[in-house]
Amino acid sequence: MPAATLPEPDAAARCASDALLARIEQELRGGGNWMSFARYMALALHAPGLGYYASGAAKFGAAGDFVTAPELGSLFGRTLARQVADLLRPGDAVLEFGAGSGALAGALSEALEALDVRTEYLILETSAELAERQRARLRTSVRWIDALPETFSGVVIANEVLDAMPAHALAWTPQGVLERGVCLENARLAWCERLATGEVLAAAQALQIEAGERYESELSLAARAWLRTVAERLTRGAILVIDYGFPMHEVYHPQRSRGTLMCHYRHRAHGDPFFLPGLQDITTHVDFSALARVAEAGGLEVLGYANQAQFLVNCGITELLGEVAASDARRYAPLAAEAQMLLSPTEMGELFKVLALGRGVVPKLRGFTEGGRAHTL
Ligand SMILES: C[S@@+](CC[C@H](N)C(=O)[O-])C[C@H]1O[C@@H](n2cnc3c(N)ncnc32)[C@H](O)[C@@H]1O
Repeated sequence: MPAATLPEPDAAARCASDALLARIEQELRGGGNWMSFARYMALALHAPGLGYYASGAAKFGAAGDFVTAPELGSLFGRTLARQVADLLRPGDAVLEFGAGSGALAGALSEALEALDVRTEYLILETSAELAERQRARLRTSVRWIDALPETFSGVVIANEVLDAMPAHALAWTPQGVLERGVCLENARLAWCERLATGEVLAAAQALQIEAGERYESELSLAARAWLRTVAERLTRGAILVIDYGFPMHEVYHPQRSRGTLMCHYRHRAHGDPFFLPGLQDITTHVDFSALARVAEAGGLEVLGYANQAQFLVNCGITELLGEVAASDARRYAPLAAEAQMLLSPTEMGELFKVLALGRGVVPKLRGFTEGGRAHTL
């Protein structure tokens, strides 16, 4: 969708975006008119007070820009709770990264209580603004932490968090690997390329992409670094990464030659990351194979990998749906609509995946009993 056809923001929102743009321009002027796309994404999404996640933008739900699985209702959290309950041992905690509006924390902690599982629920949220929203919503025994504990035992959950982590943009060309960065051109933000170097070049070369012609894509060193740290600190338990993405060979499929960069603004998806910085979400698909390799290097085991539909069905979503009589249309219809969104291959069922990584856990998780595809990683 061309950015010109997207809805206009109001004056206050435009003013906030202009302030972020000024902040980005200032950094560009101090850095020889170039910054990596990962740096741009970090500023556009997370710059204190101005970035998309750090500012007051609505973000979630009908009034926002996108809908996540927990925002649809409580079915996702209640189903996930069954898997989480299996994994928890006495004294363990649940640690949710990037809890958004707090919808998952609310549904999951309530469902765990209903299953008679007593556990501490921790949230690590980088956005002060969202942490405020979570506090207002969650009156349960949630505890917010601002750094990862030195050691952790229990279940770590990251739902749609890794796609929001900064990614480097690259172009593989017959002349070599170029890093696609951001510069000012005619007073506007634009793509500017230079030869990739250092860690970015090494990671790009490791993907072994044949560049007969130009091939563009992204890779998130930040997501890998995040997992490396979480893996180091996990003494026993599991990490559940739930997000949209693919195994490496599909992320970097020869036909996906324009990458996976996607922006979300008022429920429209488009590909222009320079459109109204700070007012739109910017994401890239998750490379689940890269995460599996990082986890294994850190001594974790891949406990399972499946698409979201398969995982939720294995965890018993249809039993939960069956608890409400289909004849009770007032209660059943919204639940069925929610299940349809979570499970349908044309909605979230196929594109979204669940990757479970663990240490000291018996690798027979209920979410992966049927149709798990860890072999594709
Ligand atoms: C797309 S939202 C998803 C929110 C929620 N998990 C859900 O599914 O509705 C991304 C969330 O991740 C948070 N976030 C982004 N990077 C993060 C990081 N490195 N650590 C913790 N939270 C992060 C954002 O502030 C936001 O809460």
